[in-house]
Amino acid sequence: MTTYETIIYQAADGVATITLNRPDVHNAMNEALRRDMLRCFEALAIDETVRVIVVTGAGSKAFSAGADIREFTAPQVPTLFREHRRRLDFRGAMERCWQPIIAAIGGYCFGGGLELALACDIRIASADSRLGLTEIDLAIIPGGGGTQRLPRLIGRGKALEMIVTGARIPAAEALALGIVERVVPTDRLHAEAQALARTIADKAPVALRYAKESVVKGLELPLADGLRLEADLSTLLRTTDDRLEGARAFLEKRKPKWAGT
Ligand code: COA
Repeated sequence: MTTYETIIYQAADGVATITLNRPDVHNAMNEALRRDMLRCFEALAIDETVRVIVVTGAGSKAFSAGADIREFTAPQVPTLFREHRRRLDFRGAMERCWQPIIAAIGGYCFGGGLELALACDIRIASADSRLGLTEIDLAIIPGGGGTQRLPRLIGRGKALEMIVTGARIPAAEALALGIVERVVPTDRLHAEAQALARTIADKAPVALRYAKESVVKGLELPLADGLRLEADLSTLLRTTDDRLEGARAFLEKRKPKWAGT
């Protein structure tokens, strides 16, 4: 199994868990962590054995406090910074993953940390977590997708309010806004995230892949094109062995055994 400097990677029974592992700095993201995340997600995008991914932070205090601010004081040539950022765009690599990605958010989730969570598909937060796009307080704006993904999730007004105030909102408010799908007791966070991952990993792999593709790609399309995509993918699923197995297992009152074909 691949080892990394700044993240812990574990995979078993179709579920991969990525743990940001810089707890001394609330899992702030430095260059080494961006590189590790890029490598990890690039590998997962072509991994057929992992069917669900969970992303979380080490320690009890933070999912991630965002970009490592200590790197902000180094002089930066804008053209090089832009190229560099593009090469280390791990969130772009996340977009290429066919597997559903779950963010298990415990504690602080700020700046690039929230942008990481927004690049995931499903977000579960612990009751004590706080979330915000806090970049404005450092005289910058979110650069990891926050100004694009947040308004698409919760609408223009509330997203812009969060971005221009840098508000650090509690989990319950994030739930009401639709930034997270679930809030769970703090001591249940990892168990709940793993249980959800297990539920998903047990589904037929091809249906899982097409379900994500239809929703994620469909959101980028006009409705008529999205409906066409859904029709095509659901028609393709009529051709799989697993579709027959699903129907037979139901009729024979037993658990299905998916072949993945
Ligand atoms: N980058 C680098 N280091 C960070 C960091 C970040 N984003 N966030 C926290 N740290 C470091 C602190 O400097 C501190 O290091 P030290 O022990 O060497 O002094 C350590 O992590 C613990 O943080 P501290 O601030 O002492 O903990 P706290 O519990 O009082 O507060 C936060 C935690 C997350 C509320 C606070 O650290 C914070 O606001 N961080 C910045 C968040 C942010 O704006 N992120 C967006 C960046 S674009």
